[in-house]
Amino acid sequence: MRQRLFMIVLCVLTALGSVCGTAQAEPLVIYCGRSKSLVEPLIEQFEKRTGIEVAVRYGKTSALALALQAEGSKTKADVFWAQDVAALGAMAKSKLAAPLPNGLFTDIPAWAQPSSKRWIATSGRTRILAYAPSRVSKSDLPGSVFDLTKPKWKGKVGWAPTNGSFQAFVTAMREAHGDAKTKAWLAGMKANGAKVYPKNTPIVQALADGEIDLGIPNHYYLLRFKAKDPKFPVAQQFFKSGDIGNLVMVSGVCVTTTSENKVAAHRFIEFLLSEPAQKYFTLGVNEYPATQGVAANPKLSSDAELNKAAPKVELDSLQDLEGTLKLLREVGLI
Ligand SMILES: [Fe+2]
Repeated sequence: MRQRLFMIVLCVLTALGSVCGTAQAEPLVIYCGRSKSLVEPLIEQFEKRTGIEVAVRYGKTSALALALQAEGSKTKADVFWAQDVAALGAMAKSKLAAPLPNGLFTDIPAWAQPSSKRWIATSGRTRILAYAPSRVSKSDLPGSVFDLTKPKWKGKVGWAPTNGSFQAFVTAMREAHGDAKTKAWLAGMKANGAKVYPKNTPIVQALADGEIDLGIPNHYYLLRFKAKDPKFPVAQQFFKSGDIGNLVMVSGVCVTTTSENKVAAHRFIEFLLSEPAQKYFTLGVNEYPATQGVAANPKLSSDAELNKAAPKVELDSLQDLEGTLKLLREVGLI
């Protein structure tokens, strides 16, 4: 009798557990395109806080995106956390990413919301105008990235045409302004003697060294220099409100359509958007938080300033890197 009672209690507990989602047989499988050193402490926190076990496959975002497309409905992944927007747009387009609950999008700014609602941004990095304040006064700065082709800036601008972030920006310019205008801008920059650098860090260094007066890197590179030397002689600011030169490049996360672990997957996204995780991104690596008002980083622009500066682009449409590379080749930049 006592044994039967025990069995009944056990059955009820098991049933309750699976209904409530607490009896989790399989770990939450995350394909992660962000770096392990950045992500690991967060995953540990999530496991500790929720009791949900996580298994992570790390890799380059582009390689994981290809794997997900190849695996299709057979994938073991529940969650895909991608470094950039192109991979997420592809997941939405192929419907390998499931629609997310509306509630997740509360308090998320426009720059972090794709219209598909099949993924959500977790943080953002921006493009920005960096300059040498000893040679260019703030009031003389160009209002738009399109102004950089003016004779005034001949031979004075630095850029990095082979860099991934620059190419993501060109893809966004094509989406916002069309291929013809983008190609004309690229050709105009080249004709105006824009100096080519291999990536963002040397652009910022060249500003300090007096090689150039303006540059278009991502926002966080200057902050690295300033962390070592607060007097580092370079400044930066956004172009005018909504200019494509202020593109916010987001990292984000989606849940696979075939996931049988969606409750846990949504809890993981809620966790990434929660204050401790958002603070970790913004204070730790100087990215912009995707959730409004949770974490102010004094080295960054405020939520309000960023929301004003950010151009309106359809995030789901920023996938055509091939088309961008083709334009860059036609202009002779790569
Ligand atoms: Fe970077």
